[in-house]
Amino acid sequence: MRLVLLGPPGAGKGTQARALGALWHIPQIASGDLLRAAVQDGSDLGREAQTFMDRGQLVPDELVLKLIAERLANRDAQAGFILDGFPRSVSQAEALAGMLGRTHWAIDKVVAVIVPDHEIVQRISGRRTCKGCNAMYHVKFEPPKIAGVCDKCGGELYQRADDAEATVRERLKVYETNTRPLLDHYRRLGLLAQVDGVGRTEEIEKRIIGALEGLLPASGTGGKA
Ligand code: AP5
Repeated sequence: MRLVLLGPPGAGKGTQARALGALWHIPQIASGDLLRAAVQDGSDLGREAQTFMDRGQLVPDELVLKLIAERLANRDAQAGFILDGFPRSVSQAEALAGMLGRTHWAIDKVVAVIVPDHEIVQRISGRRTCKGCNAMYHVKFEPPKIAGVCDKCGGELYQRADDAEATVRERLKVYETNTRPLLDHYRRLGLLAQVDGVGRTEEIEKRIIGALEGLLPASGTGGKA
């Protein structure tokens, strides 16, 4: 399975990509996570990317494409992957198609997760992420057992710097301008499915699996995809 998850900031792409990746034993490849790791490493690429991320703007294609190409070349991506946060523009989608085409691969499906703006703001303002293992929580919808502590690894939970209200507003604007046109792009290619992203995370996972009918093993939920 080579799947792209699309959706505005806070739509639950990361939450779903992580759950489905664990179910199908394929990696979640999140451009935001790759960029935040580069920032944390203090690499030149990370330093350059940070100035854009802090403002809620898209990081230039050449930096993002480099990270994605390196990550897709990893052994664990050979059996499939779930892309989360990439592509984010038509130019990135075209670059991805070229990248995959060189190894005779293609995207199997693109699922757009639809969530209204008012819910997005609520989700993002309550999001907490583990510094250790990147696990995600929400102070109201998915709280950790102990406030501020990761259930999985005991790491410290933090609030992302770009989750400040003004930056979230800019990220939503950038989504409308740069990323929403991708829906039409993939619709034209016959790859797009849209699912309602409001509800319990397990329900949304089922909706995504339902949108992949014919692409998964018979049970739709188990084994390698
Ligand atoms: P990135 O990290 O990709 O952020 P994003 O797309 O804005 O998405 P988020 O991570 O905010 O949200 P999500 O949809 O994954 O939702 P989540 O599952 O966390 O990008 C950050 C920045 O990096 C960008 O602004 C840009 O600068 C740069 N960048 C990244 N990729 C790039 C690219 N390709 N090109 C250029 N620049 C790039 O859920 C959110 C919260 O809601 C969580 O707390 C979660 O627990 C909760 N939640 C999830 N599902 C539910 C539910 N069903 N009900 C209630 N709560 C829920």
